[in-house]
Amino acid sequence: MQQITRKFKIISVVGARPNFMKVAPVHRAFAKYADRVEHHIVHTGQHYDAAMSDAFFSDLDMPAPSFFLGVGSGSHATQTAKIMTEFERVCLDMKPDFVMVAGDVNSTIGCSLTAVKLGIATAHIEAGLRSFDRTMPEEINRIATDAICDWLFVTEQSGMDNLLATGSPAERVKFVGNTMIDSMHYAMPKAKASTILRELSLESKKYCLVTLHRPSNVDEPEQLRFLLETLADLSKHRKIVFPLHPRTRKNIERFGLQSLTEAAPGLLTIEPQGYVSFLALMRSADFILTDSGGIQEETTALGVPCLTLRDTTERPVTCELGTNILIPPTSENIRSAIDTTLNGERKAGHIPPLWDGNAAERIVEIIVNQCLIP
Ligand code: UD1
Repeated sequence: MQQITRKFKIISVVGARPNFMKVAPVHRAFAKYADRVEHHIVHTGQHYDAAMSDAFFSDLDMPAPSFFLGVGSGSHATQTAKIMTEFERVCLDMKPDFVMVAGDVNSTIGCSLTAVKLGIATAHIEAGLRSFDRTMPEEINRIATDAICDWLFVTEQSGMDNLLATGSPAERVKFVGNTMIDSMHYAMPKAKASTILRELSLESKKYCLVTLHRPSNVDEPEQLRFLLETLADLSKHRKIVFPLHPRTRKNIERFGLQSLTEAAPGLLTIEPQGYVSFLALMRSADFILTDSGGIQEETTALGVPCLTLRDTTERPVTCELGTNILIPPTSENIRSAIDTTLNGERKAGHIPPLWDGNAAERIVEIIVNQCLIP
């Protein structure tokens, strides 16, 4: 008699902008195992603006999510609680065998905690990263998610060291590389064909790209004013392109700082960009000023100099091997780092181990052959 085998049901969770590029390649890699695995994407709706969400699905050729939970914004407790309540319903309805979360946003901890408590096996993509700064909401999300997930997929050696030092079982901690870099490889042909530089009248390697959205940089009026003044100053020497994250745009308006950007003709503030346009802007930038996590990695993979306006990084390999330099964001530090860069000094870098575009394939191979127990 022929044996009837059931397909495994796997959910990958996305919620906020940096999740989309980490999960898209995993979805593609599961296609190879379509006879054994049914893979679903669940979108919590933590980010909901078209520019912060929909654009990434189309740019990365991701299918529409099987479920959209529409949780939206709120305080950390409100947002995380909504994510958990809604995701529990999905899990009870779908009965997945396995749940995967990525990165360090509230959807990451909210959905992994929900799944673990329902007895569902879980994995964390981008496990083990630590800034050792517990004032960052993301650091709490990383620590908590790694403590409860069954399988931990790691992007860089520091992640392995951090997890093994805190007692994670070695056989469940896997150094697989970086799925965000997989997405970069995948979208590069589209980025090369992008018209965004022409649309913004930019010349390759003649502008600086800026992103700022960390609460520590944009939630305090004095710090945000100081950073905008610094950018206005820099824009006298180098054209600046600054896609404004909704948090940053709201705070510029709330603190009445619009005049600082409006009075600087070389400082071009634009809407948040889709993945392909942003990748095109990154690869052709002279250098990048940012407080993002993911951009530190993408610039290292692209070989573009990156000045990160933070005291700490949870991605030390980008400084040790890559093109990243940490600049604690005080006036003296930033001015001298910018002067050095404008004078032509550039940090050369190397691509970190396993950032080769095949991380998702490794993850999926491990899941199918080691994590799923019939
Ligand atoms: C979140 C993540 C952060 C990640 C960032 C990337 C957490 C704790 N933080 O921060 O790790 O680096 O995403 O963007 O999960 N808003 C909109 N439209 C949207 C989304 C947000 O207008 O689509 C507004 C919200 O109303 C809120 C602000 O932007 O006022 C911030 O959004 P929020 O989700 O609180 O966190 P992020 O700062 O985006």
